Amino acid sequence: LIEKQVEELLGKMTLPEKIGQMNQLSPFGSMDEIAGQVRQGEIGSLLNVTDPEKVNEIQKVAVEESRLGIPLLISRDVIHGYKTIFPIPLGQAATFNPQIVEDGARVAAIEASADGIRWTFAPMIDISRDPRWGRIAESCGEDPYLSSIMGVAMVKGFQGDSLNDPTSIAACAKHFIGYGAAEGGRDYNSTFIPERQMRNVYFPPFEAAAKAGCATFMTSFNDNDGVPSTGNTFILKDVLRNEWKYDGMVVTDWASTAEMISHGFCKDEKEAALKSVNAGIDMEMVSGTFIRHLEELVKDGEISEATINNAVRNILRLKFRLGLFDNPYVNTDQHVKYAPEHLAKAKEAAEQSVILLKNNRKTLPFTDKIRTIAVVGPLADAPHDQMGTWVFDGEKAHTQTVLTALKEMYGDKVQFIYEPGLGYSRDKNTGNISKAVSAATRADVVLVCVGEESILSGEAHSLADLHLQGAQNELIAALAKTGKPLVTVIMAGRPLTIEQEVNLSDAVLYAFHPGTMGGPAIADLLFGKVAPSGKTPVTFPKMVGQIPVYYAHNNTGRPASRQETLIDAIPLEAGQTSLGCTSFYMDAGFDPLFPFGYGLSYTTFGYDNLQLANDKLAANGTLEISFDLTNTGKYDGTEVVQLYVQDTFGSVTRPVKELKGFQRVPLKQGEKKTVTFSLPVEELAFWNIDMQKVVEPGEFNLWVGPSSAEGLQTTFTVE
Ligand code: IFM
Repeated sequence: LIEKQVEELLGKMTLPEKIGQMNQLSPFGSMDEIAGQVRQGEIGSLLNVTDPEKVNEIQKVAVEESRLGIPLLISRDVIHGYKTIFPIPLGQAATFNPQIVEDGARVAAIEASADGIRWTFAPMIDISRDPRWGRIAESCGEDPYLSSIMGVAMVKGFQGDSLNDPTSIAACAKHFIGYGAAEGGRDYNSTFIPERQMRNVYFPPFEAAAKAGCATFMTSFNDNDGVPSTGNTFILKDVLRNEWKYDGMVVTDWASTAEMISHGFCKDEKEAALKSVNAGIDMEMVSGTFIRHLEELVKDGEISEATINNAVRNILRLKFRLGLFDNPYVNTDQHVKYAPEHLAKAKEAAEQSVILLKNNRKTLPFTDKIRTIAVVGPLADAPHDQMGTWVFDGEKAHTQTVLTALKEMYGDKVQFIYEPGLGYSRDKNTGNISKAVSAATRADVVLVCVGEESILSGEAHSLADLHLQGAQNELIAALAKTGKPLVTVIMAGRPLTIEQEVNLSDAVLYAFHPGTMGGPAIADLLFGKVAPSGKTPVTFPKMVGQIPVYYAHNNTGRPASRQETLIDAIPLEAGQTSLGCTSFYMDAGFDPLFPFGYGLSYTTFGYDNLQLANDKLAANGTLEISFDLTNTGKYDGTEVVQLYVQDTFGSVTRPVKELKGFQRVPLKQGEKKTVTFSLPVEELAFWNIDMQKVVEPGEFNLWVGPSSAEGLQTTFTVE
């Protein structure tokens, strides 16, 4: 039916009306200024209109005053929550819990749609292996499998059961493609991803999103091997449309059609419009080159009307799917923002996103013996900063910080002495550190909350130095000197190089930016009401010089012997010319600070009895894996068990390990469970020497374990 409606409407449209649908604007001035363009049918979508009254007002112009009454598509970056802010996506990925991620996107959709927003620019599923890149915060980390699962979960949550439900918002898989591989982690920088790596690593989350029905795709800012994504026919036509049979809508990133001129890929606006439409773009975000040049390009025969028709079909199809023709207006009387059930979900997500990196001497959880806690650090009471990047609508008045939550939830049992020591994360003024130290000396334990202000990560916020900013390391060093148990909570948009701070602390919780309910979540984790269960969704480097560092690397011809040789330890033997010829850094060794998939709990887990039902499989077979997981410690807890596979050799070199499955397994103290995984052999396929996706027969290694660096191992064969 929808296709029929699309064709009927398309048949009535003039060329300028069609081009108008392909134009998206962000109104900076008053609505009256753009009402004229809407009335003329020159705009298909608006972004950043968030007042429901205004949405209805401008929609009324489109529906009642334009010739064909085509409704506008109202869009907004609703990235990790709209009003109720969930942890940044990197934190959500640390939950390894697709259900809580889906729930978070659902909450965001309910709140955003109540303001008339029906399209978000999320999920961001760029594989991110460089924490210098500020947008790693918005990603699901370094792994294609984890990013695929989390991306699909977000798509499901945003889009709900059906797009035409008024609480559903269209999702957008972005940024297609390779944006996270920006050279040097500098945002917008060029990428050089060869086709096989593109297919094996960067495409999978996008293919998964397309298959899950993600309504739209956004092209990325970067040029890959010389071709900006917005003009890249290979990715948009050959792969997205022809291989994946995608029938959704493709939008550019902000002004990235016009930016093809700065890239040096187009000589002027007209050529930029030509190249992007002919490559397969349906809608242009804000740069206005389509509206200015497409009519002439069609008249000159440089773009066919059939190409324009296809783009407009994709746009109209989405508007019909969203039910906008039947129900263009938003009910302005909805009270869903910060609903208690939304806050409860945000708290649950934050609890699961926090990673326990260290816990010496059982410092955590706090016991009844702790009567006084010194609460220190610039992030302890920073309602804006704990929400993280890409928060336009969440209000800090609704954010519960660690300090407020501790006082409210545990203030009847424990005395909290608050002395921030520093005003904000970049604060270099050490003048107040002595006050924090004095508070520490009066307390049983010190809780220091450090990290990054939200402005330090996100778009165009790359960093070359990943140490804690300002005088935060001096603050931690001074607190450590007091000899009091030191618990460090780090809130940041990326993995930071925190080796020194980890060494100085007795316990470390990495909370990323945990969102509106970060405070209560951290409070309950500190007091053991919940045990930490987050796992690193990205490798934590020891030093910036180790980057890129990710677990699924290839082996090299001289694999690292894993020595921790430090440059100072090299003996001064006369004539020494060799250190053993393996692939490692003399000053940083080989291993990262924390591997992918790492995270402790208050309890411990034992892995035993790994078994395969069949260790010789046909290409169409399924590997049945089982093992026993036992809670061997003194607390109830949840373990994220992980399944990794290595194809030991192939027609091209293969990663040393690849994540192929994970599960969150809750276990009571002393409880044991048999955990099973079914792994279809076809999931071992990769793009081989002939650029074919195949499973190559041979021997495979398999691990189940608590991280990418540990676990039980066995082998199997594909025949
Ligand atoms: O959605 C974003 C994109 O990720 C980066 N540039 C701007 C877009 C719209 O705000």
